[in-house]
Amino acid sequence: MALLDIIVAPDPRLKKKAAAVERVDAATAKLMADMLDTMYEAPGVGLAAPQVGVLKRIIVVDPARDEAPPAPLKMANPEIVWASVETKIHEEGCLSLPEEYEEVRRPDKIKVRYVDEHNEIRTIDAEGLLSVIIQHEMDHLEGTLFVDHISNLKRNMIMRRLTKIKKLDDAAKRHAIETT
Ligand code: NI
Repeated sequence: MALLDIIVAPDPRLKKKAAAVERVDAATAKLMADMLDTMYEAPGVGLAAPQVGVLKRIIVVDPARDEAPPAPLKMANPEIVWASVETKIHEEGCLSLPEEYEEVRRPDKIKVRYVDEHNEIRTIDAEGLLSVIIQHEMDHLEGTLFVDHISNLKRNMIMRRLTKIKKLDDAAKRHAIETT
């Protein structure tokens, strides 16, 4: 088990488009397992490779809550092949935007094709929370964050807060280095 560092916004690495995975080999499967460990540890319900600094089309999700048994999905090259016209609003958060939550409207049901950790092509139907998480994580592969779906006013407020926190953290780190 290896825990990876999660990149926190604002960071240019979160705004880049990720490249397709050619083949899910042992190294990719290991990355998927490490991403899942990192996600559970955070704790979160989804994580995309760009959030750990890897610009590849890989996401991991697990919508199981509280005492429910784990239901992890590891997906390479996920692709939405169908989405319902009907939409729903969910409150979303993101491990790269800690403590920030906003309501986002997305298609309610989707059909997703992806390559699993054994390099097999699979298709699943998702609705409810699973559908939201998959769409949120797939956005990361395009360099899109959930705040890109909300009003400029709300997004600017959130990004200003995160920028301020980052500046304080950087100053604290500099101070720690200077005093050691
Ligand atoms: Ni996210």
